[in-house]
Amino acid sequence: MEKKQRVVIIGANEFQLPLIRKASERGFETHVFAWEKGAVGKEEADYFYPVSITEKETILEYCRRIKPEAAATIGSDLAEVTVNYLTNHLGLPGNPPETAVFAVNKYIMRKKLREAGLYTPRFIEAGSFAEAEEKGLGSFPLPFIIKPVDRSGSRGINRIDDYGQAEAAFREACGHSFEKKAIAEEYMEGAEYSCEGISSEGRHYLLQVTKKYTTGSPHFIETAHIEPCGLSGEMLEKVRETVFRVLDALHIRNGASHTELRISGDGEIRLIETGARMGGDCIGSDLVPLTTGYDYVGMVLDTAFGRMPDFTVSPHRAAAGIRFIMNRRDLEYFESLQKKAPEAIVRSFIEERDLSAVPGDSGSRHGFFLIAGDDTEEVRRMIENSGI
Ligand SMILES: Nc1ncnc2c1ncn2[C@@H]1O[C@H](COP(=O)(O)OP(=O)(O)OP(=O)(O)O)[C@@H](O)[C@H]1O
Ligand SMILES: [Mg+2]
Repeated sequence: MEKKQRVVIIGANEFQLPLIRKASERGFETHVFAWEKGAVGKEEADYFYPVSITEKETILEYCRRIKPEAAATIGSDLAEVTVNYLTNHLGLPGNPPETAVFAVNKYIMRKKLREAGLYTPRFIEAGSFAEAEEKGLGSFPLPFIIKPVDRSGSRGINRIDDYGQAEAAFREACGHSFEKKAIAEEYMEGAEYSCEGISSEGRHYLLQVTKKYTTGSPHFIETAHIEPCGLSGEMLEKVRETVFRVLDALHIRNGASHTELRISGDGEIRLIETGARMGGDCIGSDLVPLTTGYDYVGMVLDTAFGRMPDFTVSPHRAAAGIRFIMNRRDLEYFESLQKKAPEAIVRSFIEERDLSAVPGDSGSRHGFFLIAGDDTEEVRRMIENSGI
């Protein structure tokens, strides 16, 4: 019997399940690394190793014995950094080592984007408010943003509308940062979008653009995402061209990418950040396949094995969206939808916790539901709760 090809998967939580399943479905032998706590993927893995995803040297030691043909993840920046380390040390298909910094550290990312001639807001990095003041924070135009240089999930983000708020915000952002550093950057206006891509040997493909809704200032926690995004064909072309320049600037050559941006009222594209990974919040795992028919998770595996992504299109819907449960009202709305339009609900997940707690970052939202349908306007209304 032919020997199975081996893939190392970093992470085993709810969000990695689609990758573990897809790899098994394709007949690969799965070697999954994660902390035991919350590792729901453990049962479905051929081999499970209870090692934290951040312990990259230990994982590399195991991998030298496993001898995998590929390493992949679809979860987080943290897991992606480990995948990058493994692929580079084992000579497997992936991104070059610097991508693990360029596409994770928000300060270095800004520098790379500026070097590439892309629009960049004014920005500084500092480990304390005093250092930020020395670097000229006092002359920043209001409003501006302060956030950790190396975190995700909207942790420690604040919009500063009054300079008096900056010191506490710096403390908060540095506290959340692994490196204990924060970035202050000019606030950029505009509606928010994310761009879901796949790259193979330096060639980029834009699979879908997603419209994003957030709680807005001060913490900008995502409340919903909708596909298609509603931009004109001309604007989408401009977005595609910009995103590809960003991917080149950050040396993203292989695998998934998720680029977040704003588009101002006069059509200017303002980059927020890019990750060398699929978008979270069920965008990559659910919304993209629902609205394009592409097997995005499968493409992540294709590129991890050094193959061209398979662009076969399966049956799909005209529109899809995800809405997060932020409070009791959202839950009541979801319950009313279950009665009025059960056929539109693809799946849902509600945390069993106190709904009166106000989410302070995306990890403390109370759940979500996914909607799909063939009437784009109706899907939009259902997600926005603007009357169905
Ligand atoms: N310079 C900026 N101008 C305007 N809005 C910004 C800026 N920086 C951040 N934001 C807002 O804050 C949100 C989160 O910022 P960012 O993506 O950098 O942090 P994050 O912790 O990685 O969040 P997530 O993991 O949710 O993407 C953005 O989607 C945007 O709404
Ligand atoms: Mg982000």
